[in-house]
Amino acid sequence: MFCDTHCHLFQEYYEDIDEIIKLAKENRVNRMIVAGCDDKSNKEVLSLLEKGEIYGTLGVHPEEVESFKESDLEFIEKNLSHPKIIAIGEIGLDYHYEKETKEKQIKLFELQLALAEKYDLPVVIHSREATQDTIECLKKYKVKGVIHSFSGSLETAKIYIKMGFLLGINGVITFKNCNLKDVIKEVDLHSIVLETDSPYLTPVPFRGKRNEPSKVLTIADYVSEIYHVSRETLSEITNANIQRVFDI
Ligand code: NI
Repeated sequence: MFCDTHCHLFQEYYEDIDEIIKLAKENRVNRMIVAGCDDKSNKEVLSLLEKGEIYGTLGVHPEEVESFKESDLEFIEKNLSHPKIIAIGEIGLDYHYEKETKEKQIKLFELQLALAEKYDLPVVIHSREATQDTIECLKKYKVKGVIHSFSGSLETAKIYIKMGFLLGINGVITFKNCNLKDVIKEVDLHSIVLETDSPYLTPVPFRGKRNEPSKVLTIADYVSEIYHVSRETLSEITNANIQRVFDI
């Protein structure tokens, strides 16, 4: 069985979330970690936790930096004690779309890293075209976690791993003209977790369709081939990795 360590199972993307969860289970994906991005989705995350093996993370995404309010962070802090809220995320820096809000993003990121440190919780990191600043921010806090949707260089991978982070691998690994395969080959399997980032980043050969957690199995098959391990071995090792970082 596999876990989708990063998905956005929200009503704006899916008509019938129960059906999506059922389909995931039929495809050997029994656990899902749903990542909040803003106040609205954080509330949805909490409402999903009753649905079997669903876990959640709460956070404010860097793309939400302009609309976020102090009270959003208060809400997050108030709900961190829920036993199925296992991390703070998705948080980080995104200079691709939001370069002009750099300072505000760093401030918001650090507020949430401080919160993770205070409650001794792992973090789920979004970093796009912002590697250097992400590393600088992470260095200031005693935190560990997952670099979600990792697609950087081997050198960057090694830095994150040395800092205690795992790399979240998703459908990007299946894309043609993507050198992530060559990077991942050199990374120890004990530093990898699988995710979909649903509804985004649908793996090959399903491009053009909406992504969903059941597609972890497609990603798993690509990754097993890269490492020359069986599905079973991959499942065993990645589940142990998840246990280590998220304590579930
Ligand atoms: Ni995401």
